[in-house]
Amino acid sequence: MGLSKHFPTLLLTDRLGLGKAFQRQLKLEIEDLQELDGAGREWSRQHYRNGFTSYASANELQKFSPTFAQLERQIDRHVARFVRALDYNLGGRPLRMKKCWVNVMPPNTHHGLHLHPLAVVSGTYYVDMPKGASAIKWEDPRLAHFMHAPPRKNPERAYNRQFVEYAAKSGDLVLFESWLRHEVPLHTAKQSRVSISFNYDWE
Ligand SMILES: [Fe+2]
Repeated sequence: MGLSKHFPTLLLTDRLGLGKAFQRQLKLEIEDLQELDGAGREWSRQHYRNGFTSYASANELQKFSPTFAQLERQIDRHVARFVRALDYNLGGRPLRMKKCWVNVMPPNTHHGLHLHPLAVVSGTYYVDMPKGASAIKWEDPRLAHFMHAPPRKNPERAYNRQFVEYAAKSGDLVLFESWLRHEVPLHTAKQSRVSISFNYDWE
């Protein structure tokens, strides 16, 4: 009876509060990786114009760096909270961080619309978000079905938006279901936007 709303899409945003020293250490390791990871630089030259990502080369950083492993433990707690909110029945097989990689976006880098295949929950931890850094932008997964839907009177309301942006600050974490398409529009700030992305999958 009456009105009800269905088909929710959940996003989790929070602060990890890991402290400045930890943040500095992450940034140093990312700088070192960028210098050492020739395969990543070559892949980025072809697929991530102007930027650097270790997505295709060094993408299990939580296994090799104690700093990234510590980050993983912090993120695990939030993923568990997200799983509870999603009401997932995981059948006793918990979600684990399977992939973890870094992204460095100097000015004039963008990351086009994409989703994260072969994963359940994905997200990003923001290491360095300079003033004016591009926000992450998610797309309403029903968008393709809206070809003749009238515009909304109150487009500012969260549930009326077809795109949701989150202007993350350094130290922020975002989580979303891996099938949800998202992008990072052109980054035009003077300094690089530095982040760590990851995929969680079933054990
Ligand atoms: Fe992504």
